[in-house]
Amino acid sequence: MTELNQIAKKILEKGKGILAADESTGTMTKRLEAVGVSSSPENRLLFRETLFSSEAMKSFIGGVILYDETIKQKSLTNKKIPELISGYGAIPGIKVDTGAKILANSPDEKITEGLDGLRERLKEYYKLGARFTKWRAVYSISENYPSKLSIYSNAHALARYSALVQECGMVPIVEPEVLMDGNHSAEECFNKTSEVIKKCFDELNKHKVDPSGIILKPNMILPGSGSKKEINTKTIAELTLKCLKMSVPSEVPGVAFLSGGQSEFDAAKNLNSINLINDTNFIMTYSYGRALQQSALKFWAKNIQNVKGTQEVFNQRAKMCSLASRGKWSEDLEKI
Ligand code: G3H
Repeated sequence: MTELNQIAKKILEKGKGILAADESTGTMTKRLEAVGVSSSPENRLLFRETLFSSEAMKSFIGGVILYDETIKQKSLTNKKIPELISGYGAIPGIKVDTGAKILANSPDEKITEGLDGLRERLKEYYKLGARFTKWRAVYSISENYPSKLSIYSNAHALARYSALVQECGMVPIVEPEVLMDGNHSAEECFNKTSEVIKKCFDELNKHKVDPSGIILKPNMILPGSGSKKEINTKTIAELTLKCLKMSVPSEVPGVAFLSGGQSEFDAAKNLNSINLINDTNFIMTYSYGRALQQSALKFWAKNIQNVKGTQEVFNQRAKMCSLASRGKWSEDLEKI
C-alpha cells in the first residue's frame, strides 16, 4: 500500500467522512449573512473552530477541507488550526483551486482555475500540515450542456492538478460536480455524470496519476432540483452505483459524495441507501459542506456563546452521516 493510499483510507475508513469547511470568503459571507451574522475573519473562525473542537471529530470526521484563510489561523487556545484538527486524529486538507471562471468560447459554462503557481502553493500548504487537497469542477445540465469543451478542459485541469498534488505527497480530491440546478431527469444526470467522470479518469490516466492515491468526490445521481419528477432513494442509489461502476477504476480507494444542495436529511438517507446496496470495492462516504453544517450554523447564529449546544447539533449531524456511510442510518435515529 502506498503512502497516498494509506492517507486516503485513513480519511475515509471506519465510518468516517470529510467535513468540507472550505467555503471561499465570498461563499462564507453569504452563508453567515443569511443567518444574520456579519462575516469577519473572527466570526468565520469562531464558527469553524467550534466545529473543529467537537466530539464528532474523533469518531465521524476523518478529514477537514480548509480554505486558505483558515489554514493560516490560530484557535482561541492559540493552536494552529491544522494542529487542532490533527489533535483529534483527523487529517487537515486544503482547497487549492481559485474558483470557476467563464470558459472562453462557451460563456455559459465554467472552467476551474488555479494551476499557475500551484506547485509552490502546494509546498506551502504541506508545510502548514495539509495532507490532502480539493479541486472542484462544475458542469450544468441543459439541452446542449455540458459541452465537450467543458468536459474535456475541466478533466484536463483536474488531471494536471492531481499530478502536482501527488508529486507533493498529498492526496488529491477530484471533484467533478454536475450541478442539481435545472429541470433534467435522473437519467440525464446519469448520462452526463458518467461522461464527465469517464473523461476525468481518461485524463488522470494520461497524466500518470495513481488512482489508488486519490479520492473521488462526485454528485449523486438525482433529477434536477426544478424537475417535478418523483424519485425514490433506492433508485437514486442504484443509478449512482451503476454510474460509478461504469466510470471509476477499481484501484480508487473511495468515493466521498458532495451534498450539492440536498437537505441534511436527504443527504444522509441517500448515502445510506447507497451503502445498503454497495456492491463495489469502493468506500462510499461523505464530504459534505452544507449537509453537515446547516443546522449547526443556524443554532450558532442565535447562540454564539453556546459552544457546547452548537457542537451537540453538529455531533448529531455527523453521527447521522457516519451511520449512513455504513448503511446503519434510519429515520427514527434523526428524531433523538
Ligand atoms: O465543493 C463543494 C463542497 O466541498 C461540498 O459542499 O456538500 O454543500 O455541496 P456541499
